Amino acid sequence: MKYINKKLTIEKISVQNIAKKFGTPTYCYSYKQLSENINNFKDNFKSFSPLICFAVKSNTNVNLIREIRRFGLGADVVSKGEMVLSLKAGINPKKIVFSGVGKTSEEISYAIDKKILLINAESYSEIKVIEKIAKLKKKKVRVGIRLNPNTDAKTLSQISTGKKENKFGVNEKIFYELLKYCKNSKNIDLKCLSVHIGSQILDHRPYERMLNVVNRILNKINYKFEFIDLGGGMGISYSKKNKKLNYAKYNSAIKKFLKKHKSKIIFEPGRSIIGNTGALISKVIYIKKSGKKNFVILDAAMNDLIRPALYGAIHETLPSIKLNKKFKGNYELVGPVCESTDKFATLKKFQKLKEKDYIAICDVGAYGMSLSSNYNMRPKPLELLIKGSKTNIIRKRQKLKDLL
Ligand code: LLP
Repeated sequence: MKYINKKLTIEKISVQNIAKKFGTPTYCYSYKQLSENINNFKDNFKSFSPLICFAVKSNTNVNLIREIRRFGLGADVVSKGEMVLSLKAGINPKKIVFSGVGKTSEEISYAIDKKILLINAESYSEIKVIEKIAKLKKKKVRVGIRLNPNTDAKTLSQISTGKKENKFGVNEKIFYELLKYCKNSKNIDLKCLSVHIGSQILDHRPYERMLNVVNRILNKINYKFEFIDLGGGMGISYSKKNKKLNYAKYNSAIKKFLKKHKSKIIFEPGRSIIGNTGALISKVIYIKKSGKKNFVILDAAMNDLIRPALYGAIHETLPSIKLNKKFKGNYELVGPVCESTDKFATLKKFQKLKEKDYIAICDVGAYGMSLSSNYNMRPKPLELLIKGSKTNIIRKRQKLKDLL
């Protein structure tokens, strides 16, 4: 996104034109940015060509997943729904990994029937359920064990997953027990050790620590895993102040690790693939002064984008037309939902806004639409994929009648 002749533009189309043609709120994705992200991700790790499984939870639009598949990516799924979706988008089952702490028997059975690459188990009980179902089906099922490496990802506490107090994975002691159990099982083919320490990680050092833990454990056991699944979590810059993850250092740490352990690496990135491809376009409905506060009330709300309300996340906001008139006070950018947390940002030194103006909330491609809801009976936004000057509706705006 950039300003061309003062007009905020996504690829070759102005935000103003998109808003007028398709209405608001609308999620827009840039194909160019998506392809750049995927190619950069591949480039960063090209020396060991990992299997890249897109974390579908970050964006569940079937048409976007189809585009992602065309770059050869697989899928990381956490429910039957995400599995069905990935298969519908044409993802090869041999490139699907299934994570999650609470897989039901029905989900496990479906995963086995679809012959997906791996079920990454997260507990003793789950391994037993997988074994039982595999035995009934007279099959040997490819399984991974998710280790909780007790590594602090140094990210928001709500999205940290690799510390011992988090519910994810099994601790080292149970890992050894499960290893022994799986080795002796006729229906379990233990193929993978998986880890995932959190999301929006901008420092490579937690990854290094995670690899050290995995390395130490592998040195203790006499077992060769065909795959080491390092999860996702690579962070993006939501603001100019954010530092950037040093991929080169992460890559060297993995290369060093692979000198000793010759396994195929799997990644499960979500945000780093899709996060900065998306913007949420919204219209100013009202501007209202209340005491010292100046509320800018948008037609988008926390049901459309919950990250600010849920995590205090900050997304850059840009006006659709750039003017030189600055507003002297602060704007409180809020939505119409009946919750005080329905607030996107406090805008300082922002340009002067008026009713009916359009704005774009940036970097909402990941965990934007996928976390949206119908709270307050609000239909979900339209989604648009932009390729150059072409616009393609990749999900229609929900209709009220769909909700009744
Ligand atoms: N693999 C596993 C097992 C995961 O749990 C996750 C994310 C990923 C991969 C993908 O992580 P990513 O590359 O996208 O960071 N809703 C939060 C993020 C929750 C992440 C949950 N797990 C947010 O909006 O920041």
